[in-house]
Amino acid sequence: KGTFTLTMIKPVAVKEHHVGDILSHIEHAGFRIIALKMTQMPKEKAEVFYEEHKDKPFFNELVTFMKSGPVVAAILEKENAVADFRKLIGSTDPVEAEEGTIRKMFAKSKTHNAIHGSDSDENAMREAWFFFSEMEQFS
Ligand code: CMP
Repeated sequence: KGTFTLTMIKPVAVKEHHVGDILSHIEHAGFRIIALKMTQMPKEKAEVFYEEHKDKPFFNELVTFMKSGPVVAAILEKENAVADFRKLIGSTDPVEAEEGTIRKMFAKSKTHNAIHGSDSDENAMREAWFFFSEMEQFS
């Protein structure tokens, strides 16, 4: 209980019908879903979500991919949510992701890496309010 993180099942994993499997993994790992929606980000929204990466060489590829289809966004509550969730999903690069992690199972590449997890409590807060209004959050 107590802390939370923001996740997004990315377009590749939605297209390949892995939404149910991934949400099941998340719940079995002890995270409580306190907000959930499917939505497609227009280019401008994807650019804002990932604004801290705007000067990185992979930014355009990332935005193009993230606007390419619907994502499933969720707020997840658990003790130590940010760090524990990053452990559950594994390294950004699926080649480096540990056996049993969500990215090891479902990611295709660094960009097409199946799932997002916030990297800090501050970003979890920003990203949660990016996707969900107060009426959509059930803490
Ligand atoms: P995510 O957890 O959503 O946060 C930022 C995203 O940028 C990351 O997952 C990857 O999809 C992408 N990313 C990070 N580093 C690279 C890289 N070196 N090459 C391509 N994409 C990257």
